[in-house]
Amino acid sequence: MSESTTVVIFGASGDLTKRKLVPALYNLYLKKRLPEKLNVVGISRTVFSHEEWRSRMREGVEEFSENTFDEKAWNTFADQLWYTPGNADQLPDLKEILAFLSEKEEKNANRLYYLSVAPDLYIPIVQNLGQLDMAREKEGKVWRRIVIEKPFGTDLKSAQDLNAEVQSVFREEQVYRIDHYLGKETAQNIMFLRFANAIFEPIWNRNYVDSVQITALEQVDVGHRGAYYDTSGVLRDMFQNHLLQIMALIAMEPPASMEPDALRNEKTKVLSAVRPIDPFDTICAQYNGYRKTKGVAKDSHTPTYAALKLNIDNWRWQGVPFYLRSGKALNRKVTEITVVFRQPPHMMFGNQNGGNFTPNVLSICVQPDEGIHLSFEAKVPDSPRQTRSVDMEFHYADAFSEYVIPEAYERLLLDALIGDPSLFTRSDGIEVSWKLMDPVIQVWESAEAPELATYKPGSWGPDESDELLADDGRTWRLGCLDDEVIG
Ligand code: BG6
Repeated sequence: MSESTTVVIFGASGDLTKRKLVPALYNLYLKKRLPEKLNVVGISRTVFSHEEWRSRMREGVEEFSENTFDEKAWNTFADQLWYTPGNADQLPDLKEILAFLSEKEEKNANRLYYLSVAPDLYIPIVQNLGQLDMAREKEGKVWRRIVIEKPFGTDLKSAQDLNAEVQSVFREEQVYRIDHYLGKETAQNIMFLRFANAIFEPIWNRNYVDSVQITALEQVDVGHRGAYYDTSGVLRDMFQNHLLQIMALIAMEPPASMEPDALRNEKTKVLSAVRPIDPFDTICAQYNGYRKTKGVAKDSHTPTYAALKLNIDNWRWQGVPFYLRSGKALNRKVTEITVVFRQPPHMMFGNQNGGNFTPNVLSICVQPDEGIHLSFEAKVPDSPRQTRSVDMEFHYADAFSEYVIPEAYERLLLDALIGDPSLFTRSDGIEVSWKLMDPVIQVWESAEAPELATYKPGSWGPDESDELLADDGRTWRLGCLDDEVIG
């Protein structure tokens, strides 16, 4: 295989390129993980010189890279950065871009195309890449791959159409649909927690698990993304992709190997086993003041918060509800997976704690303060039979203090460069999750939609979200945060 590689970023003037993609490439460069002969070519409509684009990228690296800035390393890295303006959705422009690539790269260089553009440009760009034969590989010599950012479609139909268009130009093996949650170190660790240990898997089922909660709360509001967000809403923005992908990792059967398709088969299988979501098992809400955001309709019904109950119809999970919640403008940023265990079969200690049973809870802290907490009952010293919950904690910051947790994009870009699609979503995985979310979104977007709940910015979300669990005799839990924080 050719040693020489070009990363072609479409949408190079955008935020993602500056905040995530180039800092990730720079960090990979520092770690000497990039191909030796590499070019990174930025493309977008804005006219920049190479130097102007490099200096924008430098700002991004200085501000967003988790490693301290190294002037010397930056200078050698930046020598590989190029910029050429153009509308890749216009064939004549793409021809010029192709000419530029051919001039900069060695003959037979590999290419990773990265679509970081507005989603309505995905199809025209892919079609143009096809027209100019830019997806063609030379077996064993040269590869071509394409990374496609989210949102991958806005519903099942548009995702199917996009898949069909992409697959008419690229083989499925060449396509890397990115979901950055899968690149988070703590999300990758779910598989290791479950399958590199003997103690969890035997209890990871309906016999021992009462319920599972997946929480992704954000403190930020929609900020300057009002126009995009108002057409998307939290169900498309967070549930169809990130939350369902995390749920699949928690709920799937053990893959037989680390082969990309072994893992992706299991994820698709478990998502296919999710019972169609009952709209009565969903709540949607909007934070007060959202409608005043620039780009947002004055009478917008777009939810900025949602909570859902899902059921998985298979042997492992029958009867175990999975509760998912996510929203913006909340009290703090926290992403956590909480596995709540059942009551012991026989409580021989009598009526301790006023008869209130406290379940064991395993909390996987995805971010921030990455780690795992296990809360269990211990006898209160000097009491006859009183118990209290205590916490066994693992924090990455302590256990792996010599490492800086890398940004998700670093792992994912490297995997795309080395050709490992395990952490990327396959076409069937995308479609099955749209199939689940579509009916819920349709209900909430219809004229008969239930009234949106509201919540105060800075709060923990709407009361209706608590009621969803209270109706089942449960409460939301956040084992990764101190009790005082939750209040
Ligand atoms: C993105 C969503 O995919 O994920 C954003 O479009 C959201 O709205 C972001 O803020 C959250 O990602 P993270 O990594 O900050 O949890």
